[in-house]
Amino acid sequence: MTTKSDYSVLFVCLGNICRSPLAEAVFHSKARQAGLSVSVDSAGIINYHAGKRPDPRTLEVGQSNGYSFENSYARQVEATDFTRFDHIFAMDKNNLEALKALQPKGSHAQLQLFLPLIQDCHKTEVPDPYYGGVQGFRQILQLIEQASDALVELIKRTSSVK
Ligand code: 4NP
Repeated sequence: MTTKSDYSVLFVCLGNICRSPLAEAVFHSKARQAGLSVSVDSAGIINYHAGKRPDPRTLEVGQSNGYSFENSYARQVEATDFTRFDHIFAMDKNNLEALKALQPKGSHAQLQLFLPLIQDCHKTEVPDPYYGGVQGFRQILQLIEQASDALVELIKRTSSVK
């Protein structure tokens, strides 16, 4: 028997090998620690990396900070995501625009950028770290941890965000 989680969230970036699998792993860990009932997944706008494990730099930085990527394999966003998930968080504005274009009419998922959940955050986008070094992955981990903490607090404060 499956029980419906109280809160379902999908994280989306371009390739689903760097930012969104990291967000999935971090938020999953923090939600679990907070005792929240959540369903979490991630996906990419493009299918180029479909079936692949997260980028080695995502794994290095994420795992060394205690996050798990056990069942993480890249996949492309699909139409059913807009009904399966209540909330879809985009890593950047391009991802958000692409999601808006893909969203089937009448589907209920709420689309928004992830970083504005952080109070007084000067950044609105998680920078794409793909073409840089491992330091970029450490920087995005910090942003993703802050936004994940904010999302956990938001869910704890109110069930009306469902
Ligand atoms: P992500 O990073 O969107 O955070 O997974 C990227 C991964 C792959 C590519 C671009 C960004 N790419 O061009 O293949």
